[in-house]
Amino acid sequence: MSDTVKLTTDSKELELKALSGSVGPKVIDIRKLYAQTGMFTYDPGFTSTASCDSALTYIDGDEGVLLHRGYSIEELSEKSSFMEVAYLLLRGSLPSKDELDGFNNTITRHTMVHEQLSQFYRGFRRDAHPMAIMCGVVGALSAFYHDSTDITDPQQRMIASHRLIAKMPTLAAMAYKYSIGQPFVYPRNDLSYTGNFLRMTFSVPAEEYEVNPVIEQALDRIFILHADHEQNASTSTVRLAGSSGANPFACIAAGIACLWGPAHGGANEAALNMLREIGTPERIPAYIARAKNKDDPFRLMGFGHRVYKNYDPRATVMQKTVREVLSALKVNDPIFDVALQLEDMALHDDYFREKKLFPNVDFYSGIILSAIGFPTDMFTVLFALARTVGWVAHWNEMISDPEQKIGRPRQLYTGPAQRPYVPVAQR
Ligand code: CMC
Repeated sequence: MSDTVKLTTDSKELELKALSGSVGPKVIDIRKLYAQTGMFTYDPGFTSTASCDSALTYIDGDEGVLLHRGYSIEELSEKSSFMEVAYLLLRGSLPSKDELDGFNNTITRHTMVHEQLSQFYRGFRRDAHPMAIMCGVVGALSAFYHDSTDITDPQQRMIASHRLIAKMPTLAAMAYKYSIGQPFVYPRNDLSYTGNFLRMTFSVPAEEYEVNPVIEQALDRIFILHADHEQNASTSTVRLAGSSGANPFACIAAGIACLWGPAHGGANEAALNMLREIGTPERIPAYIARAKNKDDPFRLMGFGHRVYKNYDPRATVMQKTVREVLSALKVNDPIFDVALQLEDMALHDDYFREKKLFPNVDFYSGIILSAIGFPTDMFTVLFALARTVGWVAHWNEMISDPEQKIGRPRQLYTGPAQRPYVPVAQR
């Protein structure tokens, strides 16, 4: 393919540049299109539009490939740790041992939250969805940490990023504790990022808590699988919010709000609820029939993806992790059988094959999280906790991009043309 693309409109022929990334399809640079033709492009849902350039994550949806800074998700989830992946996404390369120790230490020392933040929780109803609480309390961080909000200063941006990564587990565990009426548990610096989160979530002051290494490792891997996924809806939300120069904590709260939806991060909760509702393998065909019925809004949750038209590589790792965790915890969850059989039946069904619908990351994650002891409404909170790494990495990348501009899409207007105002008495 050449480096230019010809576009013919009624009155002119235009040469547009085709830009190449390091891998992946070229993109047509249409930045001057409106100035030169008076026309916009139209792409609701951004199905063919690259909104930015980015060096963080690469996805080849046809081949089922996911790379963070060039490293495959399969390798990272097997050999790395969530903190190392966080460093990789934020800083661009794998850390040396000293760099990783330093990063761990920095994150560990930012895990406490301002004591006054706990007052916010008491303003919520006990039965509030923890994602509602997270939207509120993460947004509220913007009222507490005023020394890291000069976004033109890379040092301050990094401090805000560290704070967000570090405080998210504390805030998430507090949301859970609040919902069950147990006291908040303070972080402990001698534990790993994930071990500390487990302790803050499941321990009570009345007794000692020992972190189970199998659970710690499985959860750490789940965090790796959710750490970033290029320009998905919530990351694009964080970028758009951040493009106006908004407070970093407020931008991440915007990302959390977007993630909550069932088409995005909320799918893990919806998928487990669906599997429980199906309950037994013989009920699966009825649900498959519903998913295929155009007149029924029901969809198989945890199935399908905008980008992956081959298996989601995160789902493969997740399915393997379910087996490991269930066997290590000696849990026999019949829902796992339902999930496996549902996957098998869907993958042999023409509707799902033709539309290239495969299980995504959210299909199996709920089974592990449930086995660990998390209630379903905490699933998306765990996704948010892990995705915070991707959000802050993208936010930093965007702010430090010299070509960065406020995000401002245009539209195809379909409302009335200008018309005179009619006073109410004459309507
Ligand atoms: N069950 C049944 N049919 C489906 C499903 C599904 N899960 N997903 C897509 N389809 C059909 C859809 O009805 C449409 O059919 P038609 O062409 O006849 O109108 C076709 O497949 C294409 O779907 P789409 O909604 O146009 O595709 P999209 O790229 O806009 O949506 C999606 C992608 C993930 C929102 C969608 O597949 C979906 O709603 N899946 C269920 C929710 C889910 O699991 N979301 C988690 C995504 S992965 C984690 C994350 O990134 O947050």
